Amino acid sequence: MVSDPTIPVIAIDGPSGSGKGTVAYAVAGALGFHYLNSGALYRTVALAALESGTDLENELVLRDIALNLIAKFDGESVVLGGRDVTDVLRSEAVSLAASRIAALPEVRDALLERQRAFRQPPGLVADGRDMGSVVFPDAVLKIYLTASAEERASRRYKQLMDKGMNANIATLLQDIRERDTRDSARTAAPLRQSADAVLLDTTQMSIEEAVGQVLALYKHARRVP
Ligand code: C5P
Repeated sequence: MVSDPTIPVIAIDGPSGSGKGTVAYAVAGALGFHYLNSGALYRTVALAALESGTDLENELVLRDIALNLIAKFDGESVVLGGRDVTDVLRSEAVSLAASRIAALPEVRDALLERQRAFRQPPGLVADGRDMGSVVFPDAVLKIYLTASAEERASRRYKQLMDKGMNANIATLLQDIRERDTRDSARTAAPLRQSADAVLLDTTQMSIEEAVGQVLALYKHARRVP
């Protein structure tokens, strides 16, 4: 069963580091829904490309990598070819490569059906850039979750420190800005708030508050057709 329109989808889109992954995962948990972290798909393709020495502009080879990817997505963890790559997927090298390959239409097309296959009963919470605009345009609720670039860099910094990884806040901020520009300026599925999405700015909001707001919006969306 692929993309059954009767199965509800909550689409949460927004820029890197806005907290959309954490919020989407918690909302899925609260509702007992499945969870799709579409960014992890792009990151996994990027990692496979980097490790095989693929030119990040070779669209056809990248499309094949995307189509033949043998990866297991389980909640927030990702296993690629039997190896747990959850942490390495968050590295800056993979983040930048993911943002580059995500600009290629062939790569995006190759990942489309794989993303739609996550739509299984009783429902799905999907996070990314084009969940509401391209992958699940009939989502019952579309959220555009964002936060200021400074706040996002600072969250990322704390995350890396917690993992004992090296980080420089100025470099992180610059990377976030570059990625925002690339994600928004690309022709294929650019990052932008669609007209039917609800804006949620989490700059001054806790995760719990953001989750509470999404759940309230979902209850409302289910009641009022
Ligand atoms: O969400 P996350 O930061 O993990 O995504 C990694 C990269 O994948 C982003 O920079 C973005 O370019 C790309 N992406 C995308 N479309 C999605 C999800 C992620 O283009 N639906």
